[in-house]
Amino acid sequence: MCGIFAYLNYDVSRDRRYILEVLFNGLRRLEYRGYDSAGISIDSSSAAVHRPSDPPLVFRQEGNIESLVKSVYRDVSATDLNLEESFSIHAGIAHTRWATHGEPAPRNSHPQSSGAGNDFLVVHNGVITNYKVLQESLLRHGYTFESETDTEVIPKLAKFVFDKANEGGDQTVTFCEVVLEVMRHLEGAYALIFKSKHYPNELIACKRGSPLLLGVKEYAQEKSNGTSYNDMKFISKNGHPKELFLSSDAHALVEHTKKVLVIEDSEVVDIKDGGVTIFKFDHGKRDGKSHSIPASVQRALSILEMEAEQISKGKYDHYMQKEIHEQPESLTTTMRGRLIRGGTSKRKSVLLGGLKDHLKTIRRSRRIVFIGCGTSYNAALAARPILEELCGIPVMMEIASDLLDRQAPVYRDDTIIFVSQSGETADTLNALEYTLENGALCVGITNTVGSSIDRNTHCGVHINAGSEIGVASTKAYTSQIVVMAMVALAIGADSISTEQRREGIIESLINLPDKVREVLKLDQEMKDLARSLISEQSLLMFGRGYNYATALEGALKVKEVALMHSEGILAGEMKHGPLALVDENLPIVVIATRDQSFSKQQSVIQQLKARKGRLIVMCSEGDAEAVCGGSCPVIEVPQVVDCLQPVVNIVPLQLLAYHLTVLRGYNVDQPRNLAKSVTTE
Ligand code: UD1
Ligand code: BG6
Repeated sequence: MCGIFAYLNYDVSRDRRYILEVLFNGLRRLEYRGYDSAGISIDSSSAAVHRPSDPPLVFRQEGNIESLVKSVYRDVSATDLNLEESFSIHAGIAHTRWATHGEPAPRNSHPQSSGAGNDFLVVHNGVITNYKVLQESLLRHGYTFESETDTEVIPKLAKFVFDKANEGGDQTVTFCEVVLEVMRHLEGAYALIFKSKHYPNELIACKRGSPLLLGVKEYAQEKSNGTSYNDMKFISKNGHPKELFLSSDAHALVEHTKKVLVIEDSEVVDIKDGGVTIFKFDHGKRDGKSHSIPASVQRALSILEMEAEQISKGKYDHYMQKEIHEQPESLTTTMRGRLIRGGTSKRKSVLLGGLKDHLKTIRRSRRIVFIGCGTSYNAALAARPILEELCGIPVMMEIASDLLDRQAPVYRDDTIIFVSQSGETADTLNALEYTLENGALCVGITNTVGSSIDRNTHCGVHINAGSEIGVASTKAYTSQIVVMAMVALAIGADSISTEQRREGIIESLINLPDKVREVLKLDQEMKDLARSLISEQSLLMFGRGYNYATALEGALKVKEVALMHSEGILAGEMKHGPLALVDENLPIVVIATRDQSFSKQQSVIQQLKARKGRLIVMCSEGDAEAVCGGSCPVIEVPQVVDCLQPVVNIVPLQLLAYHLTVLRGYNVDQPRNLAKSVTTE
């Protein structure tokens, strides 16, 4: 998904090369979100010699960040711009674009401009839904458009507002007034940063829907030597040397500062003269007083919990590989402090701090409804059976976009659980908004503290899996299942009849990281299997019960990264269509680990064999002979309690997808056309 980054240094001397590198590096940190083009804007002259006629420089390229970097240095070297020129104050903006309106091309990349003089420049995440109307009106006023984007209307509208306000002569309208007036006309979702040659060294950021964070690095003394930090909770006003960063994503901030402000919807942030002023914009208010500025609000900074090491690949070649292999640790972190010895008995129970005050309400619910997209939906599907079993409440599954398409009924006495790694997926957020309107209890399960799902749900659980950078979700999936199993244990904790069952699950949870460590030893075996599948067109995966989700998720991984057609199929549906595909060529993975579906899966294997199916069977350790009599490749995995078996079973399939991708020569971490967090509908 698109990424925004901006860097403003105030009273901290930085040369042009340094500023460029900070911007490029910010974009590199956003790469994982998925993008197809990128761009930046910096000043052509320093504040000391700035003339209003000096337009900011804009560089835009399709393709990856490195092709932008090359083109910028090439273009700069062709001019008399000095890379060593120092700026004691400077505002630069940058963007990675994931095409929605218009193909990937320099003209469609951001920053989008108001026109030839670059009077106003804008980087944008989100979608402006009324851009056609705005475009028509600007065309009537003589503006011409060079891109197919929805964004281009924004800088052009800013110029229109600016020119109109200054018709009388002297410039009186402030940058903030211009932006507020522009916002009054925008419909849709956005995070925006504005830069203008008329307001040098000032940036305005605002948001509605799409995420945006401000990072603050302040220096206690007058001049920075890059060492001393100020310990302020709030951002100091004018005067203090500081560096400010805006980003759609904490990953691009953490190497500079841990002090952040999560900008909220409708907030407008004006960064000027070393100060930061925040206004709350009222979308509903159209009082006709076009440039009136709302009162400013004060917001405290919060501290990012992320560590810079989390966003490096360490000893691994790819993030996906690293994230698959760190699952024993991520699962341990997910459970840390949540399995405690309870009451007078020495038995362990589950304590979920974020849910404990809401358990009574949840137990009284008419239904529990899971809502998510992609991998997060699959994780919820994996946890559904144990929730039904331990809670005795009907559990429904909803893909976020489908719930909205159907405008499905939601009741006040429903508990709706929103599952999202990023906490920013537009479809899931829209479903949350819809559900909140209907008065149900909204519970979030997310990996991202401070995300929109986190902030807008009534309560929830953080999965604490650590940063996940590979677009294909791996460690978040297993941590989500574990959290949902713990949610089931917490809701069902008041039932005596399931006590033994719950104890067995808790025991298995404690041993789970070790079992995952064991299953990771299949890495080489999965690489060999991948080699045997490298030129296949298609791969089917059959699962049922607890492992229907494993089949869906395994197939999703193969499809997403290895770019091979793959389908997860509910084994119970085999005879109702999929059987027609079976022949001696099409590879089929059958998941037949030990649980109550085992005998049914054995019969599926027999039926597939009878049709000369080309099988690969996943079974519990020691079952290879029993499941296929040595006649097909097997993936033997350690056995754990049935409801946690999906956590173990997905790991070899993640490894298979990873190796298939590398062997087929595709990009593992940024698969074609996909984004890590899809923040548009
Ligand atoms: C919390 C702290 C953790 C600390 C622990 C000690 C945070 C983020 N977590 O963890 O650092 O070690 O107490 O007791 O400060 N929430 C939502 N929606 C969501 C997810 C969470 O509203 O989608 C809410 C929860 O209801 C809760 C809060 O966020 O009020 C923190 O949730 P969580 O981190 O899961 O709580 P703890 O595990 O108790
Ligand atoms: C995108 C990602 O499609 O969004 C998937 O590419 C992910 O990996 C899905 O599962 C849902 O994202 P989230 O952040 O809501 O879990």
